[in-house]
Amino acid sequence: MPKVFFLPHKIILPKGANFFAKKGETILDVALRNNVKLEHACEKSCACSTCHCIVRKGFSSLSGWSEIEDDILDKAWGLESNSRLSCQAVIGNIDIEVEIPLYTVNYVREY
Ligand code: FES
Repeated sequence: MPKVFFLPHKIILPKGANFFAKKGETILDVALRNNVKLEHACEKSCACSTCHCIVRKGFSSLSGWSEIEDDILDKAWGLESNSRLSCQAVIGNIDIEVEIPLYTVNYVREY
């Protein structure tokens, strides 16, 4: 089973964390199953960009992305070439490393 390492985020996950991914899970699925409060305002329907993450290692092992994901990603804060919507990126067979951006475009955040 591949592992997902979430790099430290000063509010959501100060020490970072490592979790196993189950077959077919997205990055967001892994986060939520392990109580990492990654935002997902549209409930995984690829419409909000609040679940944006940056994949620091293992980017090419993730599932491909759609034109819709590409359009929604354009609205994300801190977009990089290895950005993905965590609700759309299905984990492959190798370990990945994920950075949760400091900000999202969601102005109302509940912690
Ligand atoms: Fe809205 Fe991923 S949860 S795009």
